[in-house]
Amino acid sequence: MTEDNKIGYAVLGLGVGKSHVESALKCEKCRLVAVCDIKEEKVKSITDKNPQITGYTDFKELLKDDRVDIISVCLPSGMHADYAVAAMEAGKHVLIEKPMDISCEAIDRIEAARLRTGKKVGGIYQNRNNAVMKPLKEAIDSGKLGKIFLGTFAVKWLREQSYFEGDHSWHGTWSMDGGGSLINQAVHTLDIMQWLMGKPVSVRSVTSVNNHNIESEDLTASVFTFENGATATFLSTTCCYPGLSTDIQVYGTDGSVEIDGDKLKLWKIKGEDERDEEDMLDRYGRGNRIAAAYEPGSKYGHITQVEDMINAVIEDRDPQIMPAEAKKAVKIIEAVYKSAASGLTVSIDW
Ligand SMILES: NC(=O)c1ccc[n+]([C@@H]2O[C@H](COP(=O)([O-])OP(=O)(O)OC[C@H]3O[C@@H](n4cnc5c(N)ncnc54)[C@H](O)[C@@H]3O)[C@@H](O)[C@H]2O)c1
Repeated sequence: MTEDNKIGYAVLGLGVGKSHVESALKCEKCRLVAVCDIKEEKVKSITDKNPQITGYTDFKELLKDDRVDIISVCLPSGMHADYAVAAMEAGKHVLIEKPMDISCEAIDRIEAARLRTGKKVGGIYQNRNNAVMKPLKEAIDSGKLGKIFLGTFAVKWLREQSYFEGDHSWHGTWSMDGGGSLINQAVHTLDIMQWLMGKPVSVRSVTSVNNHNIESEDLTASVFTFENGATATFLSTTCCYPGLSTDIQVYGTDGSVEIDGDKLKLWKIKGEDERDEEDMLDRYGRGNRIAAAYEPGSKYGHITQVEDMINAVIEDRDPQIMPAEAKKAVKIIEAVYKSAASGLTVSIDW
């Protein structure tokens, strides 16, 4: 707690961590008291502009700061569990970037530390909060789309070779990134696939490296079968020039919904008339990005989850994404890579 009785917030790792910094600075219920990065210039880029924030280059010093209640863990993915567990053992709550870590075993260590210390753990999957996701999730869960029999998902992005070099040479490595395009770029969409369609029970995948000098993959293609017999195809790549869309398409016996990025492209539901469809497209699909994709007044991106984490601590409740939930996409990713390596269909046991 801070002297004025606000939640004390800190951010560890100042790459995407800068979005957590901006979010915490905007949040009235907390004070951003500290940032930490081994690169001094990154720390100074924040503290020079905000002299009230203490800068650390040593994580152990950050842990000694009694004002800090919550730490956003924004380190390379394969470091998350070690640092999150140490933070919890030092009495801090943690909000952990996606993926929560690169293996189920590591996420289990986070969950064990959560249970042992009683601290709160939140995971980041901010795309679940895109405005268009709410009506789609409701339409599926209420049965409006009928029986879901097919999903097609494709993340067709571009990353230049420089993205995998220098300070970012952890990208695309098995040890720190846990893989390539699937676990780093497409994990958001894979999480949305399982959130919308439920648990896949088997997968057959291929992976390849097409346009990068990296050890993991820059393309994955998978076919999933779900508990209810539904099928989904899932593509991820970082090779599509000049960087293309993220497609999320869900088909049920009573309706079809297609989303391009965070914009609704098609909304067809049996029994709904053309005006309902036009209204949905106006609200969630057409026009400029902000007006179309987001509810008026809604908050987007990291700030929603940073605020949720702060409120979870204040209200003593669970944050939006618990470790068990964050683990689901990682469990699926492990099965995808196992299938690609073995050339076999892999069962996913829940
Ligand atoms: N939610 C999203 O949309 C989103 C976007 C990008 C990245 N991410 C995730 O955020 C995490 C970080 O990715 P990034 O792109 O910011 O990486 P990055 O390499 O840009 O930043 C990581 C930072 O951690 C610092 N660091 C490394 N070891 C440290 C240590 N021991 N102590 C303190 N600081 C240390 C580095 O100096 C660097 O500044 C990854 O898990 C990634 O998957 C999420």
